[in-house]
Amino acid sequence: MDQSVTVTVDGVTRTLSLDTRTTVLDALRERLGVTSVKKGCDHGQCGACTVLLDGRRATTCLSFAVAHEGSEIVTAEGLADQNLHPVQRAFLDHDGFQCGYCTPGQVCAAVGMLEEAKAGSPSYVTEDLTADPALDDEEIRERMSGNLCRCGAYANIVSAIREASE
Ligand code: FES
Ligand code: FES
Repeated sequence: MDQSVTVTVDGVTRTLSLDTRTTVLDALRERLGVTSVKKGCDHGQCGACTVLLDGRRATTCLSFAVAHEGSEIVTAEGLADQNLHPVQRAFLDHDGFQCGYCTPGQVCAAVGMLEEAKAGSPSYVTEDLTADPALDDEEIRERMSGNLCRCGAYANIVSAIREASE
């Protein structure tokens, strides 16, 4: 069964007629041609498909598009305007990628988790739940643990995020 869905993707509002079983990931890649959003596991385990969905990071392979009528989606492509987003710049400066397949998801997750930390949200490794969490390497690793990198660029990804958080 098809249903009409309207979403804003990287600032452009689009209306699609979609099978109700279509994921946000497949709608972005297959229908809208936003191929920066990557399909890794398609099971919510690798984070390659992460975007910012209504301001929060989300794995799009687990979300049905019809559940997001009216949503605003920002992909790694949409984070840059005239200049790269500071997180994108930091990934370049710190060699935070090798093949780059996981990078769009890593960048979106990093932007989302920096906002979460700024808002005072604790993580599993936050010791003092009453203080603003300091983003040390352990916090960054824990908060990014949903994003896997098959090239193992983790050390430089942590460096990049540490710089972007300062
Ligand atoms: S493709 Fe969505 S989490 Fe792996
Ligand atoms: S840079 Fe290759 S998968 Fe992460």
